[in-house]
Amino acid sequence: MALFCHDIQEKLPATASVTDFDQIRAAAPAGEPERQQYFMEADRAYFTARFEQMIASGEALSRYGKERLEEMQKNGRIGTVDVVTFGCQMNARDSEKLLGILETIGFQEWESEDADFVLYNTCTVRDNANQKVYGRLGYLRTKKRNNPQMLIGLCGCMMQEPEAIEKIRRSYSHVDLIFGTHNIFKLAEILFERIANGKMTVDIWESAKEIVEDLPVERKYPFKSGVNIMFGCNNFCSYCIVPYVRGRERSRKPDEILDEIRKLAADGVIEVMLLGQNVNSYGKNLSEPMTFAALLRRVNEVDGIKRIRFMTSHPKDLSDELIDAMRDCDKVCHHLHLPLQSGSSRILRKMNRKYTKEEYLALVDRIRFAIPDISLTTDIIVGFPGETEEDFQETLDVVRRVRFDSAFTFLYSVRRGTPAAAMEQVPEEVMKERFERLLKEVQQIAGEVCGRETGQVRRVLVESLDDHKDGYVTGRLENNIVVHFPGDETLIGTIIDVVLEESKGFYYMGRALPKG
Ligand code: 5AD
Ligand code: SF4
Repeated sequence: MALFCHDIQEKLPATASVTDFDQIRAAAPAGEPERQQYFMEADRAYFTARFEQMIASGEALSRYGKERLEEMQKNGRIGTVDVVTFGCQMNARDSEKLLGILETIGFQEWESEDADFVLYNTCTVRDNANQKVYGRLGYLRTKKRNNPQMLIGLCGCMMQEPEAIEKIRRSYSHVDLIFGTHNIFKLAEILFERIANGKMTVDIWESAKEIVEDLPVERKYPFKSGVNIMFGCNNFCSYCIVPYVRGRERSRKPDEILDEIRKLAADGVIEVMLLGQNVNSYGKNLSEPMTFAALLRRVNEVDGIKRIRFMTSHPKDLSDELIDAMRDCDKVCHHLHLPLQSGSSRILRKMNRKYTKEEYLALVDRIRFAIPDISLTTDIIVGFPGETEEDFQETLDVVRRVRFDSAFTFLYSVRRGTPAAAMEQVPEEVMKERFERLLKEVQQIAGEVCGRETGQVRRVLVESLDDHKDGYVTGRLENNIVVHFPGDETLIGTIIDVVLEESKGFYYMGRALPKG
């Protein structure tokens, strides 16, 4: 039987084994992050013992294969985990934190649902996100039948909905652990409770009691990282479920954010994406209020950081101060994601967006005047309750006038408990027909706009080897457009000059210029 690490062993009787759950729980420290570090060790001891049994019985060999098993043993791994992210950048960042905890416990990342532990970090912004999760859970039922030791976890936005939890309890009893958006830092302890209780463990908080920092994070890319600057949303757009599942707006203190960015820079990160549901209202609820523009200027001063992005901006809060900061800060990318949602002032009012079509267009003019090469992207919802053909034409009109670099288009999806759910719905066929027309318009314009830099030289952050073409790499321009060009892995994580030789509609083919 595997032993505990020194820190835990000191707190327990010498005879304690990894399954003496009550004793282990009773000796856990009360304060964070020490408590979670303790449970990571306790989980590690338990899974190490289980892994040794699997090796002894020959199960490990048949599960992982000889080569992978030897590699896992060499690296001190005790099982495999697949963290699957649904939804937005905030969820992607949360998944990096979850994976950081799981790798510290000793799990090896395994990018398939054949893993020993499959964790879905869910989204619920539209109903199809929920349906996808139910579909995947059905598929995992068979996998678990073949491997009863397998663990299945669910977390993220969808878990903050009581109806979803009820349905999972009723119809998906093979799920092992469930937690929400406010307590992801507690994963190690929740996993421990699942092992100790031997049955489905559900731990959902209605609001954020504490923000626990200083837990491990496993970044997907060594050279770029998301940084949460705030959590939650106070806007209550009438169609949106986010304020209900992510809670009220909470900004992190600027010093904590800057500390994190400095540490990331020291660790080789050159691009940061500042994350929040509505970054433009950053800092309003701090004890010493601070604007997002002021934060951006301070981030711009961090040595080692070369590119700064942010997501998402609400048009109603986008100040001239922020436009000036974007223009002045040399590291801030000239790209702005500015969700329009609808071009009709009547619908915007029903959506509770707090701006009109004219105000949106005037804002775009101000931004383009200050930063002529800005790339603008957007989100648009089609078929919001009560949307008429005239309202839809207003949306098309804005799309034609602004000429977005790209637009994410969504069919309106009813979210239970939101004000729009009680309004008169647009028939599905009408919605779909409008959606097709919008998509066509958006794609045609994007195709024309995206090629506008053909023949020019642009700074490119090289992100990976090209998936489709040997001897090529893939990088991103400041405006987020992708370019493929000849190169090798030594370029990954560096920023270089590339000639954009040919536009392929939504991406470029290029050629790197010699350094100098
Ligand atoms: N239906 C369709 N799209 C929605 N979005 C948010 N809620 C809904 C909904 N109920 C879209 C908005 C938002 C993006 C993240 O998702 O366009 O900007
Ligand atoms: Fe949802 Fe509106 Fe908040 Fe965005 S700003 S998360 S659309 S409520």
